Amino acid sequence: MSRLTVAVTGPTGEIGKPFVRALNRSREVGRIIGMARRPFDPVAHGWTKAEYRQGDVLDRASVQRLCEGADVVVHLAFIIVAGSGESEHINLEGSRNVFEAAVASGARRLVYASSVAAYGFPDLDRRILEEDAASGHPNMPYSRHKAQVESLLDDVLDDAETDAYVFRPCIVAGPEAPILVNQVPFVRWGDRLPGPVRSLLGAVPGARPILPDPGVPFQLVHHDDVATALRAGVVGRGRPGAYNLAADGEITVGDLARALGYRAVPVPDLAVGATAELVARLPFMPDEASWIEALRRPTLMDTSKARRLLRWRPRHDAASTLAATVAAVRAAGVSGGSR
Ligand SMILES: NC(=O)c1ccc[n+]([C@@H]2O[C@H](COP(=O)([O-])OP(=O)(O)OC[C@H]3O[C@@H](n4cnc5c(N)ncnc54)[C@H](OP(=O)(O)O)[C@@H]3O)[C@@H](O)[C@H]2O)c1
Repeated sequence: MSRLTVAVTGPTGEIGKPFVRALNRSREVGRIIGMARRPFDPVAHGWTKAEYRQGDVLDRASVQRLCEGADVVVHLAFIIVAGSGESEHINLEGSRNVFEAAVASGARRLVYASSVAAYGFPDLDRRILEEDAASGHPNMPYSRHKAQVESLLDDVLDDAETDAYVFRPCIVAGPEAPILVNQVPFVRWGDRLPGPVRSLLGAVPGARPILPDPGVPFQLVHHDDVATALRAGVVGRGRPGAYNLAADGEITVGDLARALGYRAVPVPDLAVGATAELVARLPFMPDEASWIEALRRPTLMDTSKARRLLRWRPRHDAASTLAATVAAVRAAGVSGGSR
């Protein structure tokens, strides 16, 4: 069996590093070529099969060189939380460049990390299934981009020989993925919420950071479990298609607040809704503010397809993933109730 050559955009991110580590361990993978913008040393991370080159997904020539000779192309480069039009270019144009280069270079498979956000937080009385529409949420740029990129992928791969595995993880956490703590707006904003929003939530300036808790459950998934799912796509397990990814169990913002030593303030859905409307109208980091949409109603996915077809067995549940994330953030001294 000839071993796979795998090209990866965004190998240095929160998902990228655990994923390349998992690929590096795979007998089916012979060579990994990663590309992102900043300098990075794969040897220092023990990646014996990996080469790294600096490059931007907006530069078509760099993307074409990355994909040349690759059996599988994995697209992870994306801007998740950003406040500029640059994120739109990177997310949409960058993805198009990668998908077109994968097809043009004759890659057998394309693996793309989409997101639960692609569904656009639909109001359902059941868990979200892969066949539900990935139509995005109009008020949330990230959700919109994720939906647009999935539809772009369908267009570019239509009639192509390249098969696509599209993964839709919920929030990814774990010791190497502190985005939940460092980037999700309410945590990060602690003291920075605009006055009207703070008073709406009953917050006292200077007091312990508060997290408004609408009591809405959400899912988490450990980065190492996302890595094994993506790797199943790389080696072509099961069949191509879309796969939801989430660990067993759910948490609420209240659980997150308790883990961080913050104060959880229960807020009814009405207040979250009013807050969402308010921040939508403020010139206040609109991309970040839009994440509030994610907390307005439960967005829980059914993950049985990945378990059945890819034989995906997540090793970490939501509660242990949260605990590991907060412990790592505390150890790094980044956050953790110290603000
Ligand atoms: N983390 C989550 O909770 C989560 C959940 C669901 C889905 N996802 C999806 O999973 C994928 C990976 O997410 P992540 O958490 O690993 O993101 P991340 O930690 O922000 O990493 C992003 C990666 O992309 C690279 N990158 C960004 N812009 C680039 C550009 N213009 N050209 C080349 N490389 C670029 C970054 O390196 P440089 O900055 O050095 O270029 C980095 O390697 C994304 O598509 C994301 O939407 C993530």
